[in-house]
Amino acid sequence: MNDILLSAKSLSVRFGGVLAVNNVSFDVKRGEVFTLIGPNGAGKTTVFNLISRIYTPTTGTIDYAGPDGMLRLTDQAPHQIASLGIARTFQNIELFEHATV
Ligand SMILES: Nc1ncnc2c1ncn2[C@@H]1O[C@H](COP(=O)(O)OP(=O)(O)OP(=O)(O)O)[C@@H](O)[C@H]1O
Ligand SMILES: [Mg+2]
Repeated sequence: MNDILLSAKSLSVRFGGVLAVNNVSFDVKRGEVFTLIGPNGAGKTTVFNLISRIYTPTTGTIDYAGPDGMLRLTDQAPHQIASLGIARTFQNIELFEHATV
């Protein structure tokens, strides 16, 4: 258990009639390069949105080895995610039309 950085258990996400993520579980070990693969619409981005706390799972949990030990990521507020050391990029890059660099 010690080397597990991120542990997803039985994640499901339902958008109305669409079951976007269906009972997904995986562990990511410290230092491991871990990839989600699947066809268009398989639910990959939705899983990233769960880790980022942009979405809340319909069922399931995500645990994360934070600076002070294991914590339940799915209980954290979205604004706390970056300070835990979790970052992500977005699939569709969009610049702010009226902002300067
Ligand atoms: N906010 C949302 N509201 C309703 N349905 C959604 C929402 N986000 C995703 N979905 C649906 O959930 C399913 C999974 O979508 P998701 O974007 O996670 O797939 P993906 O594996 O990232 O696909 P792609 O390879 O095209 O990027 C799709 O059927 C999608 O239409
Ligand atoms: Mg995607």
